[in-house]
Amino acid sequence: MKVVLAFSGGLDTSVILRLLQERMGAEVITVTVDVGQKEDFNFIKEKAYALGALKHYYVDAKQEFVEKYVAPAVKANALYEGAYPLSTALARPLIVEKVVEVALKEGTRYIAHGCTGKGNDQVRFDVAVKALYPEAEIIAPVREWGLTRDWELKYASEHGIPVSHGIYSIDENLWGRSIEGGVLEDPYAEPPEEVFEWTTAPEIAPDTPEYLSIEFEEGIPVAVNGVKLPLTSIISLLNAVAGKHGVGRIDHMEDRTVGIKSREVYEAPAAITLIKAHKDLEKLVLTKWELMFKELADNTWSWLVYNGLWFEPLREELTELINLMNEGVEGEVKLKLFKGTATVVGRASPNALYDLKLSSYESISSFDQSLGKGFTQLWGLQSTVAAALRRKAKAKAVALTCTGGNS
Ligand code: ARG
Repeated sequence: MKVVLAFSGGLDTSVILRLLQERMGAEVITVTVDVGQKEDFNFIKEKAYALGALKHYYVDAKQEFVEKYVAPAVKANALYEGAYPLSTALARPLIVEKVVEVALKEGTRYIAHGCTGKGNDQVRFDVAVKALYPEAEIIAPVREWGLTRDWELKYASEHGIPVSHGIYSIDENLWGRSIEGGVLEDPYAEPPEEVFEWTTAPEIAPDTPEYLSIEFEEGIPVAVNGVKLPLTSIISLLNAVAGKHGVGRIDHMEDRTVGIKSREVYEAPAAITLIKAHKDLEKLVLTKWELMFKELADNTWSWLVYNGLWFEPLREELTELINLMNEGVEGEVKLKLFKGTATVVGRASPNALYDLKLSSYESISSFDQSLGKGFTQLWGLQSTVAAALRRKAKAKAVALTCTGGNS
């Protein structure tokens, strides 16, 4: 039996690689998908072969990740529970797509992953596998064989499996870095400086602010400080520049799909900066009604992606709506990076709905203020009628209590 294993090279999947051979007599084909995690992929390949893999695939999916997953996330201002830019969540359906491609090529329906039974990733993996390859048989040893971290560490040391396990569980890609475990499991404990790798502590970040201008076309970032760049490069650049200023640290009490609350720490300098800039530009060019509705669309999109429903039709339909609403999101946003914050300090667009002649309090204003009088009467019509009725009812109730109810 051939099993295709989504292989990160970490403790779980290394132990699983051996266990699949040992317990199931499987021939294991490993697949490592590169979504921008800073790993030595040669080392991972060698590790896979050393642990008995029949074949190893390395798939560079960075470009695809940015185009098909990150760009739509920018357009959707995607933040789960208003905080988490979904870096881990966005990469999962793509990883599954690549793993399924290998399974089909290798002619097997057995697909294994290292997700636990407590987390979101099992939901994302399983649902995506079933959506893309309904006949697939999923093997999730950590969940199904009840593997624990202590047991895995012992097994690894007994079987000569090299592990460079830290205290923390870390997941990384171009869009962000997720950190869990260790002291972070106490939600009251401040994250120690050692958990951060992409961001400078705001207190020791540069004492002078740095200005950045980001240009957007159809809602997608296309240039930084006047230099046109592919989105992948913009993200790498901003991770470095905003990270240097301590921007993008997130400490989040999170609701997982299975209902468990967890404390997660993230670093996502580019994601936070780009979403902030994009959202601001939308406010300049979309109508108030569009903005009101888009918030619902954005939140629902983010919720679906977080909860493993990338292949749900509603996610696709919302993507189309969000694309449509982004057609005119064009222009430039000026940001100031300083000691942990990215503040929007300016915005401009050829499609701006802002009109100085309307909004100015100076004499250049062309707005006919006399229109305001009639407008406010109509605007508040139902509310003022309702308020009057309630006032009357209340006065009647007071009168009744005063007379002891014998009127
Ligand atoms: N809570 C995040 C999510 O569900 C990240 C999960 C992975 N985190 C980690 N440190 N391994 O998408």
